[in-house]
Amino acid sequence: MTAMDLVYNLLVVLHLLGMAAIVGGWIAVRSGRTVIAPVVWGARAQIVTGVLLVGIASAIKDDEHTVNNTKIAVKLLIALVVAAMAEIGHARSKRGEDAGTFLDVAGGGAVVNVGVAALWA
Ligand code: HEM
Repeated sequence: MTAMDLVYNLLVVLHLLGMAAIVGGWIAVRSGRTVIAPVVWGARAQIVTGVLLVGIASAIKDDEHTVNNTKIAVKLLIALVVAAMAEIGHARSKRGEDAGTFLDVAGGGAVVNVGVAALWA
């Protein structure tokens, strides 16, 4: 494994942990209607680690690291919606306001992106 592969695989680890923070946070607090901070950090992490993964994959460009630009564009769009909903929901939660719908759109959007990541051939 080259140093680049190691960095890439570590980014995949962070990418999966970011996903876990959003989806796990959503499931954990779904009995309430509050967007907790880990959901927001997970949503930000997905955009940063995802963009870095695309950058490195484009640089490596072998059979194991191909980039489907349409798929990435869809994932980025959904990830931006997830992050925006998480930020707004968290701000509302801090003011003691209801954020259930924002939480659901953020959590549901993350699940949709897992589907796009794993099912889009
Ligand atoms: C809420 C946002 C996101 C979620 C939940 C998510 C989820 C995932 C998951 C579960 C995988 C692993 C799929 C597999 O191993 O087959 C993955 C891989 C990947 N994601 Fe995301 N993703 C998100 C956002 C993004 C964004 C914004 C980008 C790029 C702009 C991106 C780029 C990538 C890339 C390049 C991989 C491939 C990693 C590899 O080589 O296995 N993701 N994503």
